[in-house]
Amino acid sequence: MERLSTGIKELDGMVEGGYPRNRTMLLTGTTGSGKTILGLHFVHQGCSNGRKCTIIATEETQDDLAHQAESLGIPLSKYDKEGLLDIDRVYDERAEYMKDILAFNAADIDDLQSNIIGLLDRIPKGAETVLIDNIGVFTLNMSPNEFRAQFDALIHGLAKKNVTALVIMDSASDERMGGIAAYSVYGVLRTSIKDNPFTGARERILEVLKIRNTKIPIDPIRFDITSKGIVILKK
Ligand SMILES: Nc1ncnc2c1ncn2[C@@H]1O[C@H](COP(=O)(O)OP(=O)(O)OP(=O)(O)O)[C@@H](O)[C@H]1O
Ligand SMILES: [Mg+2]
Repeated sequence: MERLSTGIKELDGMVEGGYPRNRTMLLTGTTGSGKTILGLHFVHQGCSNGRKCTIIATEETQDDLAHQAESLGIPLSKYDKEGLLDIDRVYDERAEYMKDILAFNAADIDDLQSNIIGLLDRIPKGAETVLIDNIGVFTLNMSPNEFRAQFDALIHGLAKKNVTALVIMDSASDERMGGIAAYSVYGVLRTSIKDNPFTGARERILEVLKIRNTKIPIDPIRFDITSKGIVILKK
């Protein structure tokens, strides 16, 4: 099976070379645990290999995302200018649209906030790598049933587009939906911040919960976030 580098060499070495090509990985985790940054590494790797990448950011402006990336040495704006990267403006549009329709009809708001399948239309032709961050915002008014239906359709659509995708979903939304997102995807990663029971220190943890057809590390992986991004720590 062909793999695309995660953008983190040590992690690649632990998962048979990277994320399986043309499949969707789910990345879940608590707030501030490093989800977006892990996603940015993947995009960085893709763009620097000359692959066309797309970021659909639902919770951050393009500007904030670019600043975050640049602080880690990831030149998002450069990739954008070179035509290698498309950063979707779904966040700005949502905010603008919401302002306009708040005065009108609550049903419209529900529609806008629950349209997961619509994301497929936002992926430009020729994109090979897709990062969606964060799909949880669409689930606020959704039943687990409806989420499952829409999420499955999204995964199916991504596969038909021949893209390798990393879909981020915050833990709170994932739990609210009963954790069902994990069943539809090819692999699942989880980031968190935990107390080390032996040292008492707070630690960043990455867990590989599953990747089909792949030997995965069963132990949690400790990592740090530095000015160079995610650094995997020794056991
Ligand atoms: N340049 C940097 N150097 C060191 N640490 C950084 C740097 N930039 C960000 N961080 C750390 O990374 C954390 C955020 O990581 P990230 O945005 O990937 O988390 P997240 O899980 O996506 O959070 P959110 O809930 O906001 O989506 C910050 O809280 C900060 O501690
Ligand atoms: Mg984030």
